[in-house]
Amino acid sequence: MDRVQIIDTLSKHVSEKRLAHCIRVEETAIMLAARFGVETKLVTQAALLHDLCREYAEDLLLKLAINFGIVINDIEQNEPILLHGSVAAAIAQNELGIHQPEVLEAITFHITGAPKVSNLTKLIYISDFIEPGRTFPEAVILRKAAFEISPELLLLKVYNRTLDFLVQKNYLIHPLGIAGRNELLMKGIMED
Ligand SMILES: [Fe+2]
Ligand SMILES: [Fe+2]
Repeated sequence: MDRVQIIDTLSKHVSEKRLAHCIRVEETAIMLAARFGVETKLVTQAALLHDLCREYAEDLLLKLAINFGIVINDIEQNEPILLHGSVAAAIAQNELGIHQPEVLEAITFHITGAPKVSNLTKLIYISDFIEPGRTFPEAVILRKAAFEISPELLLLKVYNRTLDFLVQKNYLIHPLGIAGRNELLMKGIMED
């Protein structure tokens, strides 16, 4: 699928506002792609499709996840919106002919992050947080820092700001996000 076909498909699944967000995630990720050593073609596919299912109803996400054989944990059962990444990856693979494992992984884990993931997955997770449509102060700060600090420190900061937010809002925290952050801390990556 080329970029035009992806945008055409995406526009049938999401609102104009969400489509604009996906395009900003793509632009952000392309600007940072060289720092992460990632090919821009893969960036385009992953960034545009990451929120393909973001506007699906919770019961539809659960139903599709079951149909695709996705294992649903208790956190996802409670917060089915957390499944919009894995369901989008399953649709990309089964219906849109997207087969690159890194692209499918990046779509799957863009919500929570995860340990042992490719640079593309890290890049999409970060870009989703710092794209220019994100106007909250933490995003503004990290957007400015993105080209100045190491990709790993940037990733840790996105994990930390996301976890701060989840705690503040009393939202459930997905264990993959904790594991992704722990991996960085165990490698010695640390905020000042
Ligand atoms: Fe998302
Ligand atoms: Fe997003």
